[in-house]
Amino acid sequence: MADTITITDDRTGKTVTIPIEGGVFPASALRELDPSLFMYDPAYMSTAACKSEITYLDGGNGVLRYRGYPIEQLAEKSTYLEVAYLLINGELPTAEQLETWTHEVTHHTFIHENMRKRFVDGFHYDAHPMGMFISSVAALGTFYEGAKDIENPDARHRQIVRLIAKSPTLAAMAYRFSMGLPFIYPDNDLSYPANFLNMMWKIGPDYEVDPRLERAMEVLFILHADHEQNCGTTAMRVVGSSHADPYSSAAAAASALYGPLHGGANEAVVRMLADIGSKDDVPAFIDSVKNGDGRLMGFGHRVYKNYDPRATIIKQAAYDVFEVTGKNPLLDIALALEEVALEDSYFVDRKLYPNVDFYSGLIYQALGFPVDMFTVLFAIPRTVGWLAHWQELLNDPAQKISRPRQWYAGPDERDYVTIAER
Ligand code: ACO
Repeated sequence: MADTITITDDRTGKTVTIPIEGGVFPASALRELDPSLFMYDPAYMSTAACKSEITYLDGGNGVLRYRGYPIEQLAEKSTYLEVAYLLINGELPTAEQLETWTHEVTHHTFIHENMRKRFVDGFHYDAHPMGMFISSVAALGTFYEGAKDIENPDARHRQIVRLIAKSPTLAAMAYRFSMGLPFIYPDNDLSYPANFLNMMWKIGPDYEVDPRLERAMEVLFILHADHEQNCGTTAMRVVGSSHADPYSSAAAAASALYGPLHGGANEAVVRMLADIGSKDDVPAFIDSVKNGDGRLMGFGHRVYKNYDPRATIIKQAAYDVFEVTGKNPLLDIALALEEVALEDSYFVDRKLYPNVDFYSGLIYQALGFPVDMFTVLFAIPRTVGWLAHWQELLNDPAQKISRPRQWYAGPDERDYVTIAER
C-alpha cells in the first residue's frame, strides 16, 4: 500500500499525490490544486499545526511520553526539575547539569518587591487567584529588559528560568493575598515542590513540609508539565508566533487554561461532587447528564479515548495523600460516579473515561488548597510545557505568525442604511 494520498479537485480535474508521514500530510499540497481553497476545521480537530519533538500522546491506547520517556516512569523515578530540564532541553540532565539547573531555578524564585507591593496589592480583596496569576505573569515581563530579546538564546534561557522559578512564588503570593496572610519569601534550601508548599502554608517557625506531601506535589507537577497541543499550549504558540515576549505569551496560555473545559475542570469536578452530595444521588446525577443537563466533569478528553494514564497515577497519589491528611469525603462519591459511568453505555459508546482532573481536585482539597487555587496549581508546572513549545516554535524555520483562514458566511455587500431608516 502506498504511503500517499491523492486528492482530485472535481471542478478542474486537477490531482495532487502527496506523501503521508507519521499519519500526517502537508496541507500546503492543497495550494497546488487551488491557492484559494481552504480546509474547514473548527477547533483544529484534524489539523496538526506544528511538528513537535516534545510530547507523544496516543489517545486510543492511553500513552503519554515526554521526549520518549513514559509518564509512568517519570512520575515514579524523577523530580519535577529534572522533567523540566528534559522538556526544555530534550535530554535528561547529567548530575552536573541538574545541579547547575537546580541552582539556576532556585536562585530566581524571588520577585521584585514592587510586583507584590504595587501590583498585587491593587487587586480587590476577593480576586480569583487565577485572574491574579494570569495578570502577574504578564506584568512580570515588564520587569526584565531582556524579555523582548527573543532572538537571543541566552536572553531566552534567562526568561525560561525566571518563569519556571517564579510561577510558584506568584501562585503562593496570590493565595496569601486572598487570605490576608503575610507573604512568605522563597526558601533556597527547599526543593521546588517543598518551597511552594512552604510559601503556601508556613505560619510559624516550626512549620515543616511533610516529605510524603512534597512527593505527591512533585508527582502532580510532573504529570501536568506538558500535554502537547492542548488549548493553553496552542495559545502560547499562537501568541508567541507574533514574537510577543514569553511572559505575555504565557499569560495568554494561562488564560486559556482558566476555562472550565480545560484547566478549570478540576475545580468544576469538586463543585460537582459537592453538589451531588451523596453516593445515593449518583444514579440520578448520571441520568441528568445523559439527558443533556450538563456534563460529567473530569470525564472525556479530546485526544484520550481511553483511560487517561495520568488519571491512573493521580488516583494512586490520592490514596498516598489521604494517608497523611485523612480521606476526602468526596472520594466515595467520585468512586461511585466512576464505577457507574464506566459501565453505562452512554459513556462507554462515546469513549468517555476519567481524565487528569477527575482526581486531582480531591488531592488538592485534601492538601488544604481552596478550589479557586486548583487551576493555579495546574498552571505552575504547565509553565514549563508552554516554554518548551515556545522555544521549539522559535527554532522551527517552518513556523510563521499564526493566521488561520475563515469561511466567510456573512452578508454580501450592501449599502449603509442611516439610523432613521433602520
Ligand atoms: N459528560 C457528558 N457527555 C460528554 C462529556 C462529559 N464530560 N464529554 C463529552 N461528552 C459527550 C458530548 O455531549 C458528545 O455527545 P454527542 O456525540 O451525543 O453530542 C460526545 O461526548 C463528544 O463530545 P465532544 O464535546 O464533541 O468532545 P470534545 O472532544 O469536543 O470535548 C472535552 C472534550 C471538552 C474535554 C469534553 O469531554 C468535556 O467537556 N469534558 C468535561 C470537562 C473536562 O473534564 N475537561 C478537562 C479536560 S482535560 C484537561 O483539559 C486538562
